[in-house]
Amino acid sequence: MNLKKKIEKLPKDIQLVIKKAGNLADKMGLSAYVVGGFIRDILLSRANLDVDIVVVGDGIKFASTLANILDAGLIKHARFGTAVLTLGNKLKIDIASARSETYERPAALPTVKSGTIEDDLARRDFTINAMAVVINKRDFGKLIDCFYGRDDLNFKKIRILGDLSFIDDPTRMLRAVRFEQRYGFNMDRKTLSQFRQASRKKMLKYVTKHRIRDELILMLKEDRAVMMVKRMDKLYGLKFIHSSLSLSSVNRKFLNELDKVIECFKVQYPKKRGLDSWLIFFTALLNGFKLADIKKICFDFAFKKRDTRRITLYHQEHGKVLKRIDKKGIKPSLIYQNLEPLSFEAIVLIMAKEKKPSIRKKINEFLLNHNGIKLVITGKDLHKLGFVSGPHFKKMLLKTLHAKVDRIIKNKDDEIRFVKKHGSRHIRPFLKRNG
Ligand code: CTP
Repeated sequence: MNLKKKIEKLPKDIQLVIKKAGNLADKMGLSAYVVGGFIRDILLSRANLDVDIVVVGDGIKFASTLANILDAGLIKHARFGTAVLTLGNKLKIDIASARSETYERPAALPTVKSGTIEDDLARRDFTINAMAVVINKRDFGKLIDCFYGRDDLNFKKIRILGDLSFIDDPTRMLRAVRFEQRYGFNMDRKTLSQFRQASRKKMLKYVTKHRIRDELILMLKEDRAVMMVKRMDKLYGLKFIHSSLSLSSVNRKFLNELDKVIECFKVQYPKKRGLDSWLIFFTALLNGFKLADIKKICFDFAFKKRDTRRITLYHQEHGKVLKRIDKKGIKPSLIYQNLEPLSFEAIVLIMAKEKKPSIRKKINEFLLNHNGIKLVITGKDLHKLGFVSGPHFKKMLLKTLHAKVDRIIKNKDDEIRFVKKHGSRHIRPFLKRNG
C-alpha cells in the first residue's frame, strides 16, 4: 500500500517537514521513515502534530542537519540516539536512529542496539503503532506493515507484538487502555490475557513513579479519561497510584460529574484559560485521602511545585470555602475573596462536588463577572491624589476592588471618590510634610 495521497492531504507545514526530511535523507544516503502513532493517525484520518521520524544510521547527525534546514529548536539525547526538533507552529518532530531493544529484566529500561527498520518496528508496543512509511524520494509513501497493523486498525484491535510486552514494559498496560478507549477499540484475546497475567503479577510496582506519572497524565488528559480510569480499575486496580486507592461509588459519581462540569466550563467560559483536566481528575481520585498522604503522593510522583500546590490547596480549602460561600446573603466580594485564590481546576472540583443550585449560581456569577476584574486606578493615581506610598496602597486598592465587586462603585470617578473617602488616614503625613 502507498500513503502518498494521504500524506498530500496533511497540513502544508507537516508535508514540508516530511519532504525536507526525505530530501536530506537522500542526500546523506540514509533510509528514512515516518513511523508510529503518526502513521496510525493518518490511516484513521486523525490529526497528529507529533511527527516521528526514524533513520537507519546516525539519527543525531541527521537531526542536527535537519534542524538547521528547518530553523528548528533541537534537543539531543545522545545516549538513546534520539533528538527532538521543535518548530514555531507547535509541530514537534522526534527523530531516532532505527534500533532494536532487549530487556535485561522486567520493567527495566531496555538495552538499545542500532538495527534495521524492521527491528525498530518489532520493538514497539502494539501493531497499530508499528507501521512505517518511506519518505525517501524513490519509494515515497510506501507502507511497511510487518505486523498487520492496518488490519488491526480495520478490526479495531489493540494487539501486542510479543508475549512479554507488558512484562518488559508494564507502562504499556496504561497505553493499551488509553488507545482502547480513545479509539473505541478492544484488546484482542491474547493481548487481554497477557494484560491479566501482568496484572496478577502487579507489574507496575516495578516501574519508577516518574514513568507511571507520565503515562497517567497522558491518560487523564484524554477526552475519555473517566472511561479509561474505570477500565484500568477493572483490569488492574488503582493501587499502582496509592496502596489504599480504589474506585468507590462516591469517587465514581464524582468523576462522572466532573466530566460534565469540565464540558460546561469550556462552553460557558470560553475565554478562560484551558483547564488542566488531568490535574482535576487526579485530585478527584484522592478524594477522602489525608492531606499528609496527598502531599506524599505528590512528592513521590515528583509533580511540579505548581501542580502540587493546586492539588493540595483544593483538599485543604474546599470544605471551608463551600461552607463560607453557602451562607445566605453573602456579599459578592466575600465570594470573590474565597474563590479568587483558587485555581480554575479547584473551582471545577468544587462545582462537581456541590450540586446545590444556589452555590453553582454564586460560582457562575464569580466566573462571569468578577474573576479577573480590575480597577481603573493604580498606585500612581493614589500618589497623584496626595497619598504617601507604602504597603497600605495594596490594602486601599483591594478595598476599592471589593467595593467594585459589590457594585458600590462603577467607574474611575467612583473609584477616586471611594479612595479619597476611605483612605483619608493615609493622606495626613503628606499634608504635614507640605504644611
Ligand atoms: N512506544 C512503545 N512503547 C512505549 C511507548 C512508545 O513501543 N512504552 C512506541 C510506539 O510505537 C509509539 C511510539 O513509540 O507509537 C511513540 O510513542 P508516543 O509518542 O508516546 O505515542 P504515540 O503512539 O504517538 O501516541 P499519542 O497519539 O498518544 O502521542
